[in-house]
Amino acid sequence: MAKNIYTEPSRTLMEYRLLPGLTTEKSTLFKVSLKTPLVYSENNPDKYHLNMPIVSAAMQSVSGVSMGIELAELGGVAFIFSSQTASQQAGMVRKIKKHKAGFVEPETVHSNMKIRELVQLAREKGFKTFPVVNNNNVLLGIITKNDYDHTVHGDLKVSERMIKKRNMTVGVDIDNIKEANAILKESHHSVLPIVDENGCLKYLVFRKDIRNHLNNPMEVVDEKKRLLTTAAINTHDYETRVPALVEASVDILAIDSSDGHTVFQGNTLKWLKKNYPQLPVIGGNVITGEGFDYLVESGASAVKIGMGGGSICITQEQKGTGRGLATTIIKVTEARNQYFKKTGKYIPLIADGGIVNAKDIVIALALGADYVMMGRYFSRMDESPTEKVTINNQVMKPYWGEGSARAREWKELRYNHLKFVEGVEGFVQYAGKLRDNLPETLSKIMASMSSVGVSTIEELHEKAELEVVSALSIREGNVHDIYMPQNDSKYNTIDWGN
Ligand code: IMP
Repeated sequence: MAKNIYTEPSRTLMEYRLLPGLTTEKSTLFKVSLKTPLVYSENNPDKYHLNMPIVSAAMQSVSGVSMGIELAELGGVAFIFSSQTASQQAGMVRKIKKHKAGFVEPETVHSNMKIRELVQLAREKGFKTFPVVNNNNVLLGIITKNDYDHTVHGDLKVSERMIKKRNMTVGVDIDNIKEANAILKESHHSVLPIVDENGCLKYLVFRKDIRNHLNNPMEVVDEKKRLLTTAAINTHDYETRVPALVEASVDILAIDSSDGHTVFQGNTLKWLKKNYPQLPVIGGNVITGEGFDYLVESGASAVKIGMGGGSICITQEQKGTGRGLATTIIKVTEARNQYFKKTGKYIPLIADGGIVNAKDIVIALALGADYVMMGRYFSRMDESPTEKVTINNQVMKPYWGEGSARAREWKELRYNHLKFVEGVEGFVQYAGKLRDNLPETLSKIMASMSSVGVSTIEELHEKAELEVVSALSIREGNVHDIYMPQNDSKYNTIDWGN
């Protein structure tokens, strides 16, 4: 006889609808904020947040460099997949960190270097602007590709071609991007070196990067204005993978596992707490209050929840383990709220797997999640790291689970003991650019929150009223009993949409 047999069925997000509340001037669409905590941070609760409640899944077919850059610029983050070598993954993190950073820690050169050597260095590094410093890192000047011609000046020294400090505009001890922008605007230059009060070089700020920051008001960044970068790890090779990711300046880690309620994950979290106490780590996935408590007590700063619901997932069929995502959120939220009452620590919950569109997202949030993770949704976009294919005259992109045979090909020993797969490989309809899709999704979430009469996700948690719907009322809620000559697949049974 089992220890517990629950006869109440577990429920999915599809089975719930939100009841509207009073919409006021304070909760009109344009007043709604989608800001949400990313992980618990002890000394500064606002240190890590998202500007939209959506992140992309740590999957080979979803989250690479392009997704990492684009999503962070739009206010979310992509979890760079761990099913690759640590050095490949760290390389991806580094590329996102280096992308249009606000305050760039520059590669410097010495004034007696030959222009020929500089040309070689520029080729190797892939950039062409170098500050010139002395042995004490004191700024002497700057040299860019406009200052020499390698066919003519190869034998000259950098000091003979550089722009000298006295002819440049230099910022002293500035750490505010707006202030740097104001100086650059007046300066006629495209780059601003920032030095400390002793004249030692700290950063470069590029005009084009500032423009990029100003064009992306929702972007999420670290204290040096570099894009926030998150990556997955596993419970097998963390002792070598984590140092490589930290070296690449990763901000937050997530332990990637379909079942996170294990001592292996507990041990990984404890090792991280001991060796990297300042690095926030998301634990998961769990689907019970006990699982939540275990991960948080082991050191998790946020907990990812859900099992068996992913579009490519066959965990439930293969192992018989799992729970409907709505029930998972309800149960784990109860544990999270109790933990908050007991300790004062608010641990964000991430609903993961099977979330299709805006209505699923807002229902997951209303039930208690702080943000959601999606794979299939993002795999359809230009920014996912896969090539488009045409199948039956439809443009598609491949999408495969991390537990599928395809994803497991990379590993050396990780899954060698498993004799079965937990995920499948298929195709999703190509959807275009992320920037052309996300606004529609976000606007639906905001419209829904406005209907409920709330303007923040925190308020949604407090005020939302939800109701289970019958199969017939779901049918009633769909298009029915009309003839649509240009039958738009968007409203057909497969929901490809946003
Ligand atoms: P989707 O958004 O419905 O496509 O689900 C994505 C989520 O499915 C991921 O964030 C993972 O939690 C989960 N997942 C990814 N790969 C697999 C797999 O191969 N088997 C089971 N679950 C998976």
